Amino acid sequence: MTEEIRKGLAGVVVDRTAVSKVNPETNSLLYRGYPVQQLAERCTFEEVAYLLWHGELPTEAQALEFQELERSLRPLDGTVKDAIDALPLEAHPMDVVRTAVSVLGALDGTLQTDRTWIDHDLTQERSIRLFAQLPAIVAYAQRRLRGEHLVEPRDDLAYSANFLHMTFGEVPEKVVVDAFDVSMILYAEHSFNASTFTARVIASTLSDVYSAVTGAIGALKGPLHGGANEAVQHVFEEVGEAAGAQAWLDAALAEKRKIMGFGHRVYKNGDSRVPTMKRALGTLVEHYDRPEVLALYEALEQAMDAAKSIKPNLDYPSGPAYNLMGFDTEMFTPLFIAARITGWTAHVMEQLSANALIRPLSLYDGPEEREVPRA
Ligand code: ACO
Repeated sequence: MTEEIRKGLAGVVVDRTAVSKVNPETNSLLYRGYPVQQLAERCTFEEVAYLLWHGELPTEAQALEFQELERSLRPLDGTVKDAIDALPLEAHPMDVVRTAVSVLGALDGTLQTDRTWIDHDLTQERSIRLFAQLPAIVAYAQRRLRGEHLVEPRDDLAYSANFLHMTFGEVPEKVVVDAFDVSMILYAEHSFNASTFTARVIASTLSDVYSAVTGAIGALKGPLHGGANEAVQHVFEEVGEAAGAQAWLDAALAEKRKIMGFGHRVYKNGDSRVPTMKRALGTLVEHYDRPEVLALYEALEQAMDAAKSIKPNLDYPSGPAYNLMGFDTEMFTPLFIAARITGWTAHVMEQLSANALIRPLSLYDGPEEREVPRA
């Protein structure tokens, strides 16, 4: 029997989804039918989270109800803070956040008694809890790196303003909050990427949503996936300035290095999220008066286009944007977690609604059957 092996599952359609549609031909990304660019311009991240979970944007009343619930769930349980404090300061923030999510699962009393893990409403409740608590976890992971104490959430602030308040101890100007909110919306969902697929595989065994998210964080950490936004910042620091971009790229390509922030498994003609995030980066560059950042961005982008015709992905503009906002580089991928929790959990609920255990086959190419050389 000859079986076709599709390495990396490239080109393999494994299931249906109504959460988002990626269309590389038209260079579009739709969340529940809405173009992501429009959502980023016209909606808040909370509204987009609601859309991903429920399939429709909230009415005014639904938005208010959701807002109240989300704000009430923001304060971090002391046990989670203690668990974070027990970790070494050198631990990567991705590991800190992954551990904190795992602790949240262990603390959720409903998991001990609940044997119907397929329950949609319970999964939804847990998803909102994760959505509401991740900003506190990520913000604290950033603050402890700087020897700073936990900042309590404010329930008079919207999601992004509160996130930045908990991270930096103050609410920055609107232009910064808006750019951050745009990044959260753009990172929220992207169909069957590696981390979402990981979440769906775990959910398909009827495990719980905390386990699915913990696994997804592990998948997101790698530099071929979410870890690229952090890696982009290292590239920017290595290159230094726009004038050095061409020489740096020539040397990197000669060494056969992958240039972080470029290329995509699905989009071969440019990532549809990039223009929106590049605009947000532009507003930050203007706000902080850092034109050299955009100059370097464009110099490297043009050099890469000329050398290999490979276009930037979302991590390329978001890396320098998070840097300008004041986040440490190791925090960039944890920010991606806070955004993607919405997409991951929407997919977990979708997986459970028509579940089939995900269990592919492999083609064995090890030794033929043989005797164990022991009496
Ligand atoms: N730098 C240099 N060359 C590249 C890059 C890159 N960033 N991306 C692709 N290529 C080249 C490959 O070397 C390969 O060339 P070859 O045919 O001469 O060997 C060709 O383009 C095809 O590349 P693949 O790696 O086979 O493409 P694949 O679809 O498997 O990879 C991936 C996609 C992993 C994203 C790749 O482009 C990459 O490693 N990029 C850098 C990491 C990155 O930015 N990841 C973020 C992904 S998006 C996100 O998570 C928001």
